[in-house]
Amino acid sequence: MFASAFFIYTMHLSSLKLTSFRNFETLKLTPSAGINVLHGKNGSGKSNLLEAIFVLCLGRSQRGNKDSDIIKHEQESYRVEGTMHDDDRSIDLAVAVMRRGRKQITINGVKSKASELYEKFSVVAAGPEDSEILAGPPSVRRLFLDLYISQQSTKYLENITKYSRILSQKNAALKENIEFDSFNFLLAETGAKIIIARQLFLETLNKSAGSFYSKFSKNGQLDIKYKPSALEEIESEIKVDESRIKEQFEAKLKQVKEREMILKSSVVGPHRDEIEFMINSFPARTHGSQGEWRSAAIALKLSVYQLLKEKRGFAPILLLDEIFAELDENRSAAVIDSFNDLGQLFLTTALEPPVRLAEQALNLKIDSGQIEAVK
Ligand SMILES: Nc1ncnc2c1ncn2[C@@H]1O[C@H](COP(=O)(O)OP(=O)(O)O)[C@@H](O)[C@H]1O
Ligand SMILES: [Mg+2]
Repeated sequence: MFASAFFIYTMHLSSLKLTSFRNFETLKLTPSAGINVLHGKNGSGKSNLLEAIFVLCLGRSQRGNKDSDIIKHEQESYRVEGTMHDDDRSIDLAVAVMRRGRKQITINGVKSKASELYEKFSVVAAGPEDSEILAGPPSVRRLFLDLYISQQSTKYLENITKYSRILSQKNAALKENIEFDSFNFLLAETGAKIIIARQLFLETLNKSAGSFYSKFSKNGQLDIKYKPSALEEIESEIKVDESRIKEQFEAKLKQVKEREMILKSSVVGPHRDEIEFMINSFPARTHGSQGEWRSAAIALKLSVYQLLKEKRGFAPILLLDEIFAELDENRSAAVIDSFNDLGQLFLTTALEPPVRLAEQALNLKIDSGQIEAVK
């Protein structure tokens, strides 16, 4: 049993309204500031509801989906609205997307940029699709980095936005056979900052995820290694030396220039970075089992949650999608035990939720796009 002092009620979502969001026509919800359990059969919309909360917090989906996929079939737009509380303030948020238009974010009725959401709020999502971080393509791992490092530093968010803008300009130049050296210079400059941020983040994550993982897996070992495509090998003494990284990146860009002209695409840089996960000293992608991927994925997300909480000074909203369905009883217990100073939690389950959580939760039943509180 948790004592109620166990929870710190800082930032939390106090109301939520969805319009034409995936399978929801309209949906209104008044969540608890503590634990919310969403219970419903497969296909009822539990994952979609968590996605909507993520979209409201940061203006984008954690699943890497296009906004046009999120709009309810045969509708022209979606809208997520809600009220967020931080300490004693309440902030009204809305994210709206038209099928053929731009995304519009408003904070207290004022049109705002996504970066303002990152500055104010924080959210961590874990779910079945996270095995892809271990086993899927590199783009999934880069999305993971970008989503969570951006919540530590809006400077990082700015840099990846800038980097991808320069990258598309360079790619356009490559397609038209025009000179692109000036873009290489800019890519190296911004890219060096991104590489350093990723390196530092993964170093910290390596330590904490490793210790979570050993708890979840009877002393199994998880190691994370950053493999920046712009550098041959990260030597420990240059990892924060921005000018040296920039030099190396520029040299590498010179080396691949001809190849890029032939392929008409940009072959090195943070957009091609890889992260290698090792489980018990073997590459997780090729040697891991599904159970190991799931445990490792949850270890990663809970570490990110702890890191963000320390960095931001408040608990992010935590979205846990079906995580207990994937873990045996011992691992589930280890996860529940690791919930320290929890903030607001949304947890979905198709099965009965763990009693230790359900007895202190707002229990919500979700069925074909409708939701109601249950005893
Ligand atoms: N854009 C969309 N418009 C309408 N329905 C959608 C859309 N995207 C997904 N769905 C539907 O949402 C349902 C799945 O919801 P999901 O949240 O994954 O369920 P659960 O997590 O409870 O199993 C599916 O029936 C799927 O077809
Ligand atoms: Mg689901």
